[in-house]
Amino acid sequence: MLSDWKPIDPPPPLEAGEVQLWRIDLADSAGLRDRFTTLLTPSEQLHASRYRLAQARDHFSVGRACLRTLLGNLSGLDPRSITITTGVHGKPESPNLNGHSIAFNVAHSKDTILIALSRNGPVGVDVEYFDRPTDIMDVAKHNFTETETSSLEAIADAETRHRTFYRYWTRKEAVLKADGRGLIASLASFDVSFESLHQHPIRMRESKDDQGKLFFVSDLTVGIEAAAAIALESPDYPIKQLIFPLNLLW
Ligand SMILES: CC(C)(COP(=O)(O)OP(=O)(O)OC[C@H]1O[C@@H](n2cnc3c(N)ncnc32)[C@H](O)[C@@H]1OP(=O)(O)O)[C@@H](O)C(=O)NCCC(=O)NCCS
Repeated sequence: MLSDWKPIDPPPPLEAGEVQLWRIDLADSAGLRDRFTTLLTPSEQLHASRYRLAQARDHFSVGRACLRTLLGNLSGLDPRSITITTGVHGKPESPNLNGHSIAFNVAHSKDTILIALSRNGPVGVDVEYFDRPTDIMDVAKHNFTETETSSLEAIADAETRHRTFYRYWTRKEAVLKADGRGLIASLASFDVSFESLHQHPIRMRESKDDQGKLFFVSDLTVGIEAAAAIALESPDYPIKQLIFPLNLLW
């Protein structure tokens, strides 16, 4: 499980053959709200203003401002001028970054935002705090594979079962987000009931005859009471875990 987070400033270049995973702590960004807003396009500002819950608004606007800052830094473009489109199923993408091909994905939960960046094909990331009141066995029975559900049922300790459920959930959501279909695709089309995952091959199949799509999934330790995972199309890429330098936005 990956666990080494480094505060870093300025952001290093994104090498081919590596993945950068940035963590933003919303609590640290509280005094910078105006700065975030000025980094968004008018349509993103409108989008942000439509969130009724302050936390959801902050997830979107802080995440998008930091994403624009990182992409601007890597491409040499003004962060505000970068075109971010959405795929058929809503996955944000930026196909033309001054000749650079950079895939990214964003995830948020409570006070934490993660941004993954890669030059090596699609990436998906997910984070979920453990303390959500979820009927985990009900969710598992309706959405997980039989193997995953029975492996959860076999865990006697309720807290361990709860945390294991979130490990499985974040692995699955990372794969679905790398694929780009998100929760429209079936959570039960692949199995993630392994002890601990590090660049573990997972084949996502819609049917038995389907060749499917191969992803490599790793658990992440995010330094908080949460499960997190990242999925990539290729194995063997080192994942650099970096804390976003908020002074970049001053
Ligand atoms: C993507 C999805 C799994 C997000 O789940 P979630 O747990 O609520 O949220 P997360 O924090 O993990 O991720 C949210 C981020 O994922 C990204 N995202 C959105 N749609 C995505 C997709 N289809 N694939 C990958 N990433 C996606 C966005 O960057 C979003 O953050 P932002 O809105 O602040 O930019 C879920 O919303 C989904 O399945 N969406 C796709 C299907 C759908 O409803 N499409 C409707 C729009 S066409």
